[in-house]
Amino acid sequence: MVTNDFWLERWQAGRIGFHRDEVNPWLTQYWPQVARGAKVLVPLCGKSADLLWLANQGYDVTGVELSPMAVVQFFGDNDLTYQTEQVGHLKIHQAHDLPLRIVEGDYFDFDETGFDACYDRAAMVAMPEEKREQYVQHTKQRLQAGASLLLITLSYDGEQAGPPFSVLDDEVQELWGEWIRKLASEDLLQLDERYQGAERSFYEESVWRITGQ
Ligand SMILES: C[S@@+](CC[C@H](N)C(=O)[O-])C[C@H]1O[C@@H](n2cnc3c(N)ncnc32)[C@H](O)[C@@H]1O
Repeated sequence: MVTNDFWLERWQAGRIGFHRDEVNPWLTQYWPQVARGAKVLVPLCGKSADLLWLANQGYDVTGVELSPMAVVQFFGDNDLTYQTEQVGHLKIHQAHDLPLRIVEGDYFDFDETGFDACYDRAAMVAMPEEKREQYVQHTKQRLQAGASLLLITLSYDGEQAGPPFSVLDDEVQELWGEWIRKLASEDLLQLDERYQGAERSFYEESVWRITGQ
């Protein structure tokens, strides 16, 4: 079962193979045109370098993350100072010198609205099937009408016990709706031997976008 404790324990044990030190190349290539100063939501953000890239583009960035270790490591690794405020169940960590904050807590307790854009890498695919629809609905409720989205998903065949889960194209389209478009995909089996071995014929990463008005 993928519970909150599952993720907290992974951070405790340093089992964070999903983390990349570099900015995600799909993000820099496909981020939609969004006005500077716009409010950008990054659900399940980990300690991703993508947060910093977005803040450096001039957006007002909010990441949401369960693990306090991820938060401490993000600010520490990037030499950022910050201040913390407790608001209900959540802790809000605001960077001093950048328009960037990480909200520490369960994403489903985060109820702010009015975001202009959302960046999801390894978040929707971290949700088990039974919570995925709730995750997408919760995210849509955080966004303004006409908001933009950049989404990176995975789909694969063969067995895999835990996350990232395989999310097929039909499910992405059904949950996100008619305005989502697939921009690119890449079969990681061909590119990276880490994905080989298990009995599969594909392990595909796809990039999706909703271009807001
Ligand atoms: C697969 S990782 C992806 C992290 C990040 N997006 C990246 O690209 O590196 C999923 C992250 O979501 C966090 N997480 C899982 N469930 C959560 C929840 N309900 N609320 C907030 N964060 C959650 C985990 O702690 C983990 O850091």
